[in-house]
Amino acid sequence: MTQTLTLRRPDDWHLHLRDGAMLQAVLPETARHFARAIIMPNLVPPVVTGDQAAAYRDRILAALPEGMRFEPLMTLYLTEETDPEDVAAAAASGLIKAVKLYPAGATTNSASGVRDFDKVRGVLEKMAEIGLPLCVHGEVTDPEIDIFDREAVFIDRVLDPVRRATPGLRVVMEHITTSGAADYVRAQDGDDLGATITAHHLIINRNHILVGGIKPHYYCLPVAKRESHRLALVGAATSGDARFFLGTDSAPHTDANKESACGCAGCFTATNTMSLVAEVFDRENAMDKLEGFTSLNGPAFYRLPANETTITLEKGEPVSYPDHIDSGDGPVTVFDPGFPLHWRVA
Ligand code: NCD
Ligand code: ZN
Repeated sequence: MTQTLTLRRPDDWHLHLRDGAMLQAVLPETARHFARAIIMPNLVPPVVTGDQAAAYRDRILAALPEGMRFEPLMTLYLTEETDPEDVAAAAASGLIKAVKLYPAGATTNSASGVRDFDKVRGVLEKMAEIGLPLCVHGEVTDPEIDIFDREAVFIDRVLDPVRRATPGLRVVMEHITTSGAADYVRAQDGDDLGATITAHHLIINRNHILVGGIKPHYYCLPVAKRESHRLALVGAATSGDARFFLGTDSAPHTDANKESACGCAGCFTATNTMSLVAEVFDRENAMDKLEGFTSLNGPAFYRLPANETTITLEKGEPVSYPDHIDSGDGPVTVFDPGFPLHWRVA
């Protein structure tokens, strides 16, 4: 007998679609299962103004194959020059749903990010006033700080002070990777703080990247931490706590750019996310919490309606996925969890 589970259609609260040929190749992988996604603005050059976000949204919609439905939820890349009024206008028109904070130099295409938080005070205050969420890449970039400690140090040195200085600012801690980050979310009162968790951080720890030969396709930022942290993330995701929701951080790079002496950070999970996450939840006997994580908690945080349409998951013989997808820029490897996946989207 096949086991099935029908869920409201999921959304992805953190997604990299890129542009041009790569956009064309990866967009259907997400749109097949997801109704909406928060679109990361770290293009080269970044999406900084409302006009740029509108143009990018139009390019995304133009790349959507006939017959597929998908709503890109646009974001602006916060720079020290961002104009609070431009942000407010783009939010008021419904164009953007969040602003993205990258500490300068933290990750792929983040050179235009913020160095001096005093320079973005006006924008953050405006966002608090209008209730527009700030999506945060939570890692410090101080070369003195060990890469495995950068999220924890960010919470102490940047996130907590910024939140205290800007009462009412709504924040999403994106792609959390540590038990400390999950604890920080749980310790807050009110509904101003949420966190996304990726599929891959529910599956890999740092051994997967480094033991038995370096595995560039498991390298992403924030880098996966030790096993106790992975377990804490699984605990948070499957707990039913509405402050945790799925943001895949699916981040396509060509194999040439990943399998290199200086390989790019990012795991490409758009193709198999729902199978990955269902497998993790099933192993925890938490299938009853899956819909909250993938389809309800995110919309509630963003104050958007949950999707009315549904998808049905089926459990059976292991599902196979292509090991890569082709893009006009070259092949992109699909994340391999290293174990069989039994749930598929019907
Ligand atoms: C992302 C990318 O490739 O754009 N990479 C990643 O490892 N997650 C950037 C990011 O979200 O940090
Ligand atoms: Zn990302």
